[in-house]
Amino acid sequence: MKVLVTGGAGFIGSHVADGYRAQGLEVVVVDDLSRGSKRNLRAGAPFYQADIRDRAALEEIFRKEKPDLVNHHAAQIDVRLSVKDPVCDASSNILGSLNLVELALASKVRRFIYASTGGAIYGEPETLPAGEETPVRPLAPYGVSKHTFELYLWTMRKLYGLPFVVLRYGNVYGPRQSSKGEAGVVAIFSEQMLGGVTPTIYGDGTKTRDYIEVSDVVRANWAALSKGEGEIFNIASGNPTSDYEIFAAIREALGFPGIEPKYAPKRPGEVDHIVLGIGKAASHLDWKPAVRLQEGIRRAAEWIRAKHDNG
Ligand SMILES: NC(=O)c1ccc[n+]([C@@H]2O[C@H](COP(=O)([O-])OP(=O)(O)OC[C@H]3O[C@@H](n4cnc5c(N)ncnc54)[C@H](O)[C@@H]3O)[C@@H](O)[C@H]2O)c1
Repeated sequence: MKVLVTGGAGFIGSHVADGYRAQGLEVVVVDDLSRGSKRNLRAGAPFYQADIRDRAALEEIFRKEKPDLVNHHAAQIDVRLSVKDPVCDASSNILGSLNLVELALASKVRRFIYASTGGAIYGEPETLPAGEETPVRPLAPYGVSKHTFELYLWTMRKLYGLPFVVLRYGNVYGPRQSSKGEAGVVAIFSEQMLGGVTPTIYGDGTKTRDYIEVSDVVRANWAALSKGEGEIFNIASGNPTSDYEIFAAIREALGFPGIEPKYAPKRPGEVDHIVLGIGKAASHLDWKPAVRLQEGIRRAAEWIRAKHDNG
């Protein structure tokens, strides 16, 4: 069984690719390396440096590799860039994704697994935790583009029978997460602490997020190979963690007991409180998070420290 993983040189996609290999699947990676890194690729494994907006390049890859499954992680993930340039965001996250779905249909793939977001599509829900049925009210174009492609999948299933699974992640963290850009507060705060820079919390530290360790996300992608067809699932911890709590957990893991964060005004478009309901993933995918926050932060911090020490 061969799976084509888009975004497989990036943070989550590379873990998913490794996880699939560990399950005995053949893995082909497509990534334009706009954010991903060759360091995240496995030597000897097929890799195509290609932009998912490049239809001709994708056609050639599908023709050559004939994947049985598609796991789609490639995306423009910068929320603030999506605010500045929604067309650029939509060109990757909607049009690029549509290229993939059309080619997946043409090559009759058995399943299309799509990495969506639970952190950026529900906006500021009236009740928490937000379940999959919570109205979609994104506060930034990134959430709009990620959700729009979910709708395409639903429609393509109705029209042509394309089997799909959508996984809406909470805030994913863990080894290989980049500290560059806006996402990835665990990586950003860790790099800052190790570099002697005081981390900045936007707001008063009480905003809450739902953090999930990347190995739990990998297990959800395993489950999605055989379960949950035609469904959308939140993949998260189900627990709220405040900005200050995440700061304190990283501080403890790295051993900087004395430092306190700086505070700056909250940035527009940021959600105050989000926590995701994960009951549906438990019942349909037989999936539950296994890594507790303290343990996950310890693993991430260890990786970032090693990377920092090696320059
Ligand atoms: N990190 C999170 O907390 C989080 C939360 C919810 C959803 N997601 C989703 O998970 C997926 C992976 O996110 P990540 O955090 O690993 O980010 P990442 O930036 O590390 O990975 C994305 C990868 O896609 C590649 N890419 C970007 N645009 C591309 C294009 N047009 N063509 C080909 N490749 C392209 C990048 O080079 C990168 O390697 C994304 O779809 C994102 O929307 C992430």
